[in-house]
Amino acid sequence: MSDNLAINGGPKAITLKQEEALRWPILTEEDEQAVLSVMRRNETSLSEEPMKLEKEFAEYLGADYALAEINGTAALYAALFVLGIGPGDEVISPSYTYWASAMPAATLGAKVIFCEVYPDSLDLDVEDFKKKITPKTKAVIPVHLWGVPCEMDEIINIARNNNIAVIEDACHAHGAEYKGRKTGTLGDFGIFSFQASKNLPGGEGGMLITNNRDHLYKATTLGHYRRAAGLPEEYSKYQHTCLGFKHRMSPLHAAITRVQLKTLDEKNSIRKNNIEKLLKAIEELPGFHIYWPPPHINRVYYENDVVYRGEETGIPIERLIETLKAEGAIVRRDRYPLLHQQPYFIERGSNPEDLPVTREINEHVMALPTFPGDDGRLVEQYIGAFIKAARTF
Ligand SMILES: Cc1ncc(COP(=O)(O)O)c(C=O)c1O
Repeated sequence: MSDNLAINGGPKAITLKQEEALRWPILTEEDEQAVLSVMRRNETSLSEEPMKLEKEFAEYLGADYALAEINGTAALYAALFVLGIGPGDEVISPSYTYWASAMPAATLGAKVIFCEVYPDSLDLDVEDFKKKITPKTKAVIPVHLWGVPCEMDEIINIARNNNIAVIEDACHAHGAEYKGRKTGTLGDFGIFSFQASKNLPGGEGGMLITNNRDHLYKATTLGHYRRAAGLPEEYSKYQHTCLGFKHRMSPLHAAITRVQLKTLDEKNSIRKNNIEKLLKAIEELPGFHIYWPPPHINRVYYENDVVYRGEETGIPIERLIETLKAEGAIVRRDRYPLLHQQPYFIERGSNPEDLPVTREINEHVMALPTFPGDDGRLVEQYIGAFIKAARTF
């Protein structure tokens, strides 16, 4: 391989076509047939498809109850609604996450208290969670960010001792495990998204998981008026109004999600094999800090984010990314718009200067591809590109 960087006019390290190796979701004729079948049965609105998905996904997870929702955001809203969270209450969430982890609590009138994350796993910092608890705290939302399960035993212990509910945001973590149990089954609620980019992609859709039957009934009554009819009187009396929303999942999306569920584990392991080959190689290069979870955590890869510290190599992250892009790599800064720095939360009392660890780490994260359809050849070329770029350090 030539040492002459592509950014300086040398040959590119990555020459393979990338579209197929990086394509996501991977939809096949089986997905097409499943959608066609729903259409031909004239079940594009009312159908058993979402209920079948509930049963299959609950079985996969080892959970008692699952409720298919229109998306993950709606499922999170439903969990908070079931807990009766509203004005005067506080809910703890990381700031380093997608907005839907925190906004449903704010929409219900609660105050969101943002919490630090660990600089290596990027998950909720247990000590900071403990510090943020007040008598008003009603729930905590650990987010299994990018597919890394949070330290659930510690979080649940603290929550139980303080009468706080645990809502796992498992939207990045379909199939991940914590001490042998699937994420999404550990807290009072588990929340999943089936949006097209997710590891279990249905196009759009979501799922609420709980082991509490009354919680299931109340969530059903919130957003599934037809299904409320079959519940005990305390809930069924609302069947003609429900409690305010229509959260029914589209049968077409449920049909795709059901097909995709059959290959979830296999697809998770293709990502894992490819990504970990790359991470093992770049771990040897200066400036990169790769997080390997402890043995009790079996992560999945929703995104492939790594921490790179330009101050250790003299090459700033932007410059490294430009160098890698010139080599043909698809890489980018992965800076989350931190929630405590957004106008909505600043207007409601958040201080954008808070959370120094979260702010610092957010400047050092780089997203690399997940190689979901790669037979291993593209990853090899990426390793070559990183090694070549690192020669400039
Ligand atoms: C961490 C996290 N929570 C919640 C959601 C909400 O899911 P949905 O997009 O299905 O509403 C997402 C989706 O992107 C997410 O990434």
